[in-house]
Amino acid sequence: MNLEGKHVIVTGAGAGIGLGIARACRAAGAEVTGFDRKTEGAGKLEEIGARCVQVDVTDLDGFETAIAEAHQRAGRLDGMVNNAGVTIKVPFLEMTREQMETLWTVNQRSVLVGCQAAGRIMKEAGQGAIVNLSSVHARATNPGHEGYAATKAAIAAMTRAMAWSLGPYGVRVNAVCPAQVRTEIVDKAMQYSETAAKVQAYNPEGTVTTVDEIGALAVFLLSDAGSAMNGSEVLADRGMSALLDVFDMRRT
Ligand SMILES: NC(=O)c1ccc[n+]([C@@H]2O[C@H](COP(=O)([O-])OP(=O)(O)OC[C@H]3O[C@@H](n4cnc5c(N)ncnc54)[C@H](O)[C@@H]3O)[C@@H](O)[C@H]2O)c1
Repeated sequence: MNLEGKHVIVTGAGAGIGLGIARACRAAGAEVTGFDRKTEGAGKLEEIGARCVQVDVTDLDGFETAIAEAHQRAGRLDGMVNNAGVTIKVPFLEMTREQMETLWTVNQRSVLVGCQAAGRIMKEAGQGAIVNLSSVHARATNPGHEGYAATKAAIAAMTRAMAWSLGPYGVRVNAVCPAQVRTEIVDKAMQYSETAAKVQAYNPEGTVTTVDEIGALAVFLLSDAGSAMNGSEVLADRGMSALLDVFDMRRT
């Protein structure tokens, strides 16, 4: 779980899971460059000693250039975490073309380009590790998440193929599939007891995964400790999707 001497880029690093991953990578000794389209999180990244660059990953050319610049600046690139993503939950029959476009541009195309740009650099170096943020929705989902679930399943599928495209060059590609994670937004929503009870009922422990727990998983996959992992979807749902009917279970 050691990332000493390594340089890791994390997208969407200004808040939520991305910030948790950036913090965990810094704690493991890595130099971290955080990309975010907003600047609000810059202070938090600077506090943990990470570099912050304003990058919108949907500007695919700009994103690619930013990866090349971060690589040049640090002199190396050992880890790439494609975390930036959006969730759109909307009744299936009401989903607009614009919402479809947003989901695929942010959640799928940017991840593909992030993997290509980092993959080319890592291929040259003969080593590297990539972690893509998928979701439990790649496996089990619910109405209103048709678009989101499809993009997260696409990330898992791309990850499997890329493991074989980049594996021969010493580059591993894995996906992390969390269920509900306690980001700032979830934290606020959980102040309402009804929401808290609902979120806690999702898994047998009745607890909610923290961004630090996802950070630890990312560090594992990026470090030599995760050397056996390639093309994996690491399900981090605390058992949620293992049960046939969560609500039936709660009633008994
Ligand atoms: N939070 C959860 O419960 C959960 C569960 C499963 C998977 N995920 C996935 O984890 C990832 C992070 O989720 P989160 O909940 O931390 O999100 P969040 O909304 O809390 O934070 C996302 C961060 O990414 C940035 N971002 C968004 N679009 C961007 C863009 N186009 N370019 C650059 N930065 C951008 C935002 O500014 C923000 O700082 C997403 O891919 C999400 O789908 C989250």
